[in-house]
Amino acid sequence: MSGRPRILAARRLPDNVTARLEHDYDATLNPVDEVLDTDELVARAAGHGGLIIANTEQVDASVVAALPESVRIIATFSVGYEHIDVDAASARGITVTNTPDVLTDATADVTMLCLLGAARRATESLLTVREHRWTGWTTTMLLGTHVTGKRIGIFGMGRIGQALARRARGFDMQVHYLNRRRLPPEVEGDATFHDDEASFLANCDFLCLNAPSTPATIGYLNAARIAQLPDGAVVVNTARGNLVDDEALLAALKSGKVAAAGLDVFNGEPRLHPEYQTMMNVFALPHVGSATVETRDAMGFVCLDNLDAYFTGQPVPNALAALPR
Ligand code: 8YV
Repeated sequence: MSGRPRILAARRLPDNVTARLEHDYDATLNPVDEVLDTDELVARAAGHGGLIIANTEQVDASVVAALPESVRIIATFSVGYEHIDVDAASARGITVTNTPDVLTDATADVTMLCLLGAARRATESLLTVREHRWTGWTTTMLLGTHVTGKRIGIFGMGRIGQALARRARGFDMQVHYLNRRRLPPEVEGDATFHDDEASFLANCDFLCLNAPSTPATIGYLNAARIAQLPDGAVVVNTARGNLVDDEALLAALKSGKVAAAGLDVFNGEPRLHPEYQTMMNVFALPHVGSATVETRDAMGFVCLDNLDAYFTGQPVPNALAALPR
């Protein structure tokens, strides 16, 4: 038995991250990479001081209560942490950390990919080539929605929303945003802040959802809000699937109220609503917002930085605060 802290990696991690984990800790890996249900997670956690999980592992209050006494820290390999009851963990004295910042650029890139893919009919275009249906060029073939000069409405102007705004300015888009707080002038720049939701939605030629999943944002894009978008708006979601009411969005995609959607996240993923897989005006990706080699390594290293700090008694850089009681 070494004196090193024991860490359970609930999912398989990138090789560079695994190497550092194994070098510095007594690590238990998941080389098969099966998703652990809550009973399995609790069982495997026995005797471990720290857990590295992903958003595939649900750690609600009942799981926190069932975790062995040995577990002192949970490092999630994600910036989102709606899958963890931080309050319950804090109440048990368990530190919870996430991986902010390092995935901001990759996720903002995929948001632009979804925006462009939806606007420019990438699904139909790809299939036309792949299925040998491209018979020639015409002036009216696969005409999409123009992006330059249009209004992009960003719902949630945190790190990723701000990185998206920078990219959108590069496409000469006019940036509008809805956020709990107005940004300081040096960050806001030429973006238009809306404290009125109706005026925000009316300005969304492109509506991009970039807010975390919280009780206040779950189901945000519903039929009533879709009705307030300009006709033919494009909807983009790279945040969490549960910000969208699928039936409402699918109805709008069928009616043409929403011209197209670019989606990287889904309710119930990977078992997304099957209609998203067949509709030609949906550009759908399998939750790859942070999926670059560099970003996934960096996310893993942030998890390890947090564990290192915790186990050496230093301030933990990304310790999440319990909600105010
Ligand atoms: C991750 C994400 O791939 O970090 C997040 O919150 O949504 C993704 O970038 C995923 O959550 C890994 O756990």
